[in-house]
Amino acid sequence: MPVETRNAEFPDLGAMANIYNQGIEERIATFESDEKSTKDIEHWLNSGFPVVVALQDGEVVAFAASFPYSARVCYRGIGEFSVYVNRESRGSGIGTTVMEALIREAKKHGIWKLVSRVFVENASSRKMLRNLGFREVGIYEKHAQLDKVWKDVVIVEYLILENIN
Ligand SMILES: CC(C)(COP(=O)(O)OP(=O)(O)OC[C@H]1O[C@@H](n2cnc3c(N)ncnc32)[C@H](O)[C@@H]1OP(=O)(O)O)[C@@H](O)C(=O)NCCC(=O)NCCS
Repeated sequence: MPVETRNAEFPDLGAMANIYNQGIEERIATFESDEKSTKDIEHWLNSGFPVVVALQDGEVVAFAASFPYSARVCYRGIGEFSVYVNRESRGSGIGTTVMEALIREAKKHGIWKLVSRVFVENASSRKMLRNLGFREVGIYEKHAQLDKVWKDVVIVEYLILENIN
């Protein structure tokens, strides 16, 4: 089925929260452990950084959201990102498609680098990001706890070179 992408809008937040909660429940993607409501994530759309959704047959099946990396002015062009695909829709290229859309929007916003941290064991995310051209910078050991277990994360970065002068 064809996949379309566009910037996220407030009515998408319910579907986005559902997709995010699947990832939270699975304990594979994030240190967050509590279910999120629409209210919890609506600030994503007010940060000034791009958030995109992927749709199949009119339904939101994935999102890629970026946020300011730091309040320091020198880092204003660095975006942190998260990407989540609906459980039933994974493994068919939608994560890649929605990340490509986020990178395109990030370029338009003057963002010069996208960064994130990925659990070392999150093989599908690491593979997808490597395929997209992300570089694995290194590993933060025991970066935080999830369910009282210390976890290592891989730092990833993608340079959007044309925005660097
Ligand atoms: C990670 C995620 C966003 C990827 O989206 P997706 O639509 O499933 O990814 P794609 O189909 O575009 O690509 C996935 C790649 O990983 C590979 N892959 C899938 N499962 C894998 C596994 N268990 N081990 C290794 N590689 C795997 C696929 O083969 C594909 O690579 P290929 O194109 O070279 O074959 C999605 O699986 C997801 O939402 N996971 C839960 C939330 C999450 O982990 N988010 C990332 C937080 S950093």
